[in-house]
Amino acid sequence: MDFQSYRDEKKKLMDEALDKYLPPESEPPEIIHRAMRSALFPGGKRLRPMLTLSAAEAVGADTEKILPTACALELIHTYSLIHDDLPALDNDDERRGRPSCHKAFGEDIAVLAGDALLTLAFDLLSRNGQVEGVKKEEALSIIEEITRAIGTRGMIGGQVDDLKLEDITQPQLESIHRRKTGALMEVCLKAGAVLGGGKPREIEALSRYGQSIGLAFQIVDDILDADDAEKDAAGGKGKTSYPAIFGLEKSKQKATELIKEAKAQLSIFGKKGKVLEEIADLIMDRGSKYEGEVG
Ligand code: IPE
Ligand code: IPE
Ligand code: MG
Ligand code: MG
Ligand code: MG
Repeated sequence: MDFQSYRDEKKKLMDEALDKYLPPESEPPEIIHRAMRSALFPGGKRLRPMLTLSAAEAVGADTEKILPTACALELIHTYSLIHDDLPALDNDDERRGRPSCHKAFGEDIAVLAGDALLTLAFDLLSRNGQVEGVKKEEALSIIEEITRAIGTRGMIGGQVDDLKLEDITQPQLESIHRRKTGALMEVCLKAGAVLGGGKPREIEALSRYGQSIGLAFQIVDDILDADDAEKDAAGGKGKTSYPAIFGLEKSKQKATELIKEAKAQLSIFGKKGKVLEEIADLIMDRGSKYEGEVG
């Protein structure tokens, strides 16, 4: 199967599962269920759950049994985007080419829709511990890892520093990026590797791969945002970026190096690491698309 068909297949699998796990729009209070669904569908790249499923496959597991965890990670990602766009944070009117959640449903409902997605994520995570073929203690350890990755020592901490730190140094910026974006991606890989029954050295390699692509992803995102005049004009907060501090060339170089480092971690998986290699390239391709646009 080529990579594009693989991605389409996984996206379909995810979307069907997410649809099943979410309350219907017709269930009261309708407005919150509509807001949650509107933020999730049609959705973006579904990169994070794809990482989870692909990591499980890399360690030789079937993905059916870890679908609830993969979906939970997409719910967490989507909650983080809804809150990131709020006027009090980045103040972005658009997300995925459509009005952001607070534009469509109001700030009150957007805050609550984010809360609701995060809450539902933990329902799914705990339910995954009941699935046959999943070890309860492993499911529990992954809940703990995810909680840490998205808390004040991970994603939330990174978001706070992104908003509040001034005169940011290069190491501080790297730390912000590793926490606000990298921590969730790393734990997506780890979840797939652990629940898929990976060996310690496989789990370690996939975690390292996750750290490298996580940082690369946010650097590329910054490069893309730097070209987004509308975003700059909106003048939201949290605008410290890699190109602003390191310059465009160095930022591209750094992202390229990180992708190389990530791919080097995959050697122990042989053919089973191919998809993750393609995903790493895909992350970088977002950057070269930018290169094409300015060239
Ligand atoms: C956007 O992530 C937020 C960042 C961490 C930069 P994605 O670009 O993966 O968002 P979607 O899910 O594909 O829209
Ligand atoms: C988003 O970073 C990080 C999280 C949501 C945790 P950005 O603020 O750079 O993402 P975009 O550019 O709005 O997608
Ligand atoms: Mg932000
Ligand atoms: Mg933002
Ligand atoms: Mg951005």
